Amino acid sequence: MTSNLPGQGVAAELGVPVSGGLPPDLRVWDLLLRLTHWSFPLLILAMWWTAENSKWAWHRRLGLVLLGILLFRVLWGFVGPETARFASFVRGPRAVIAYLRGALPDTANRIGHSPIGGWSTLALLAAMLLQVSMGLFAGDPFDGMTGPLNPLVGVLTADTITELHETFFWVLAGLIGLHLSAIVFYAVKGNDLVSPMVSGDRPPMQAVAGIGPTPWVRGLIAATLAAGFALWVAYGAPPLT
Ligand code: HEM
Repeated sequence: MTSNLPGQGVAAELGVPVSGGLPPDLRVWDLLLRLTHWSFPLLILAMWWTAENSKWAWHRRLGLVLLGILLFRVLWGFVGPETARFASFVRGPRAVIAYLRGALPDTANRIGHSPIGGWSTLALLAAMLLQVSMGLFAGDPFDGMTGPLNPLVGVLTADTITELHETFFWVLAGLIGLHLSAIVFYAVKGNDLVSPMVSGDRPPMQAVAGIGPTPWVRGLIAATLAAGFALWVAYGAPPLT
């Protein structure tokens, strides 16, 4: 459990013990998850802008960065702290229905995604991964920039994927719109989800522990694997032998 005072989130992140008489905040989201999260709006805006303005070299570079970050987030879903793990927030339909009916007894005593938030997390990550994956094959080799895996498919297939890539952007935009609406909805109900996603901490709750520090080596290994894979893709996925 992380025990830190309000505003001393960084100390807690670094595992530095803090003391004092104020009630301790709870660490809900680790630093890597938050950095990953805030890179999404920045990168998606930038990728939209580069596509609108035909800055294809940058569109391709940023897409590969987004691919690496998404892969890292997926790995973090297995080796990261509890609130980052898929196993902790992907709940069955019964929990989702009970949550929607306000009948889930443990919702007040948990940190991390709600059952519905867990599914929306999966949907957003999957939609971004699908969009980036289509971009890898998109483009026309005889007319402008292509994704690094474009030579692996025929021109007609690439053409279809390119159209899907353009259309699916609106599906992703719709999911992002839903995501932002949900955040506004909770804010109106008095539940501020944004501050914890910025600072990592939320006010204390009775008998609930925050997440503890995660061994940094796990983050390093996950980041290296994700970056390595993205680089391999950037070079057109050459044979490894
Ligand atoms: C392109 C735009 C965005 C995308 C793709 C996106 C995606 C996501 C994803 C995948 C998560 C799950 C976090 C995780 O477990 O890794 C999440 C959570 C969250 N996002 Fe976003 N996000 C976007 C923009 C924003 C913006 C602009 C805000 C704030 C104004 C925001 C606020 C939040 C908050 C508060 C959570 C935590 C929700 C919870 O408590 O369950 N997001 N977002």
